[in-house]
Amino acid sequence: MNIEDAIFSRRTIHRFKPEVIEPGLLDEILAAGLWAQNHRLTQPWRFTVVGPETHRALAGVYAAFKPGSNRDAAAEKILSKPLLVAVSVTLAQDAQQRREDYAAACCAVQIIQLMAWSRGVGMQWSTSPFTRLPETYDLLHCNPEKEEVIGILFFGYPAEVPAPPSRKPLHEVMRRVP
Ligand SMILES: Cc1cc2nc3c(=O)[nH]c(=O)nc-3n(C[C@H](O)[C@H](O)[C@H](O)COP(=O)(O)O)c2cc1C
Repeated sequence: MNIEDAIFSRRTIHRFKPEVIEPGLLDEILAAGLWAQNHRLTQPWRFTVVGPETHRALAGVYAAFKPGSNRDAAAEKILSKPLLVAVSVTLAQDAQQRREDYAAACCAVQIIQLMAWSRGVGMQWSTSPFTRLPETYDLLHCNPEKEEVIGILFFGYPAEVPAPPSRKPLHEVMRRVP
């Protein structure tokens, strides 16, 4: 897939086939993220690949967190995602560096999603509040004093590719200055 096709056809995927992604392919996809631009070469991204035991535990955290919901259905929402990878960013002391490190980690996520897409693998970037709970940090072995979880990526082969949500035309978001 060329870059133009990848950029325009990429979609956030919500429904996945049950098949898991081979570990070698996942490594190839995540390794693409290492080539994201990052100011001062801080390489601030960290990836936590979630195994089956932690996946089940995270589904339990999610279900418990959803107030008033049917717990089994809520847990199934997480269990139906074939593979979870948490992305965190190291927390620099300097406020501007922290901001730039977050930006760099987001660049890495975009590259990862495009790389996955080019291999036929879909992804949803979840920033659901449950990704920020202390229980979630514990399960991910993530020290909140050192790293911030910026999302959990759900990977799998798409069962359905949504229609592209519309975008504002360029002229609405662009100005030219003399
Ligand atoms: C920082 C960030 C957080 C996001 N969090 C969520 C999320 O929690 N749940 C979700 O379904 N999609 C999430 N998305 C994906 C957007 O909803 C999605 O990109 C948007 O609807 C446009 O769809 P597209 O990616 O198919 O073009 C997030 C995207 C970004 C950049």
